[in-house]
Amino acid sequence: MSTYIQTVPLLTPCGALRLSGSSGEALGAQWRVGRDDQIEFFPRGSCAFAVAARSVAKDPDRPVCFFPSYFCDSSLKLLRQAGARIVFYRVARDLTPNWDDVRQRAKTKHPDLFVLVHTFGHAQDPTEVQVFAKEEGCVVLEDAAHVLKPDGPLGRGGTVVLFSPHKLLALPPISLLTIPHSLAERVWSPYKAAWRTQDWKWFAKRLIQKGIVTFGGLGIKVKPRSGEFNGDTDNDISVIDYPRKISKLGRRLLLAEQQDLGEIARLRRENFAKLACALAEISETEIPQPFETWPEGAAPYAFPFFVGQHRASAVYTALWRLGIPAQTWPDLPPEVSAQPEEYSEALYWRRNLLLLPIHQSLTSRQINMMIYSLKDILARS
Ligand SMILES: Cc1ncc(COP(=O)(O)O)c(C=O)c1O
Repeated sequence: MSTYIQTVPLLTPCGALRLSGSSGEALGAQWRVGRDDQIEFFPRGSCAFAVAARSVAKDPDRPVCFFPSYFCDSSLKLLRQAGARIVFYRVARDLTPNWDDVRQRAKTKHPDLFVLVHTFGHAQDPTEVQVFAKEEGCVVLEDAAHVLKPDGPLGRGGTVVLFSPHKLLALPPISLLTIPHSLAERVWSPYKAAWRTQDWKWFAKRLIQKGIVTFGGLGIKVKPRSGEFNGDTDNDISVIDYPRKISKLGRRLLLAEQQDLGEIARLRRENFAKLACALAEISETEIPQPFETWPEGAAPYAFPFFVGQHRASAVYTALWRLGIPAQTWPDLPPEVSAQPEEYSEALYWRRNLLLLPIHQSLTSRQINMMIYSLKDILARS
């Protein structure tokens, strides 16, 4: 019997039972970075980009936004639809911005919004971005969509920070911006609380999924969404019917989930450590920098690893055949793919990276199954 390994966390019984939302705690309070920050909700991070860019730009119909070259293209569609001119800056192998390249590009296109991404939950040093923002007079948005909760250097220096709790918790799409007092007049959310039918559909689906997993996995076969390596993108957001509203169900689930973030972070780190320990025994595999080490309290988003040049595709396919939902680096923007030499680091990640789930709902059996399968595949290939 194959085990059904889910890519996203399951509803916790407490979460489902605590639907009355009686904690008394303010919604989203756990994500507030600065004491006086304002929290604004969005259905998804991609909506937040579009709203933030338009609201801080000199010309709201043509905001100039700087993004790292490795950014997932499907998450930029709304921003493009909003008229943004997106400038992709180069990155180093460890995904830090190449500041010479950033400054060079800023000479011809002055940024309204600079996006610094804390990929897979690993916070970047914000020192240089603050210097750059002062030089240019632009607003910084720290993309912490992969970050479970604010910790460490995140948001220091008066930046706007994006969180997408739906990416790490059992929640229908909910993202939020935590906005410093100095920018609160400029950045606000047009989304309001309301009934949202699709969140109840999401809830029903997750309850069924929970049942399947609880009863031992019913031998469900999994296949990659796109059917092939490197075609594994997020939903095509151009076809998502974006709600204008945040649902009450979503808000209540968020209230329940936000109370357990410390324990969720612990479980994620534990799962990450088990996979890292197993991988250390396999030559030709590597956890890329900076993801080998995690500061105290940080929660990894997933388990990233390289399997050696030209092997990632075969390993990815073999993992899916065994029911392991590996993921790849997402789709790159066409502007980046079209210039492979200019953006060689982004393309390197795209071609060589695999990701395994390490979320809080995985059981030891599922983690062990991933480890055995990976070892077996790598020994054979
Ligand atoms: C780093 C990062 N930021 C932002 C987004 C967009 O987030 P959302 O799925 O909430 O639109 C994604 C989506 O995958 C992402 O990977």
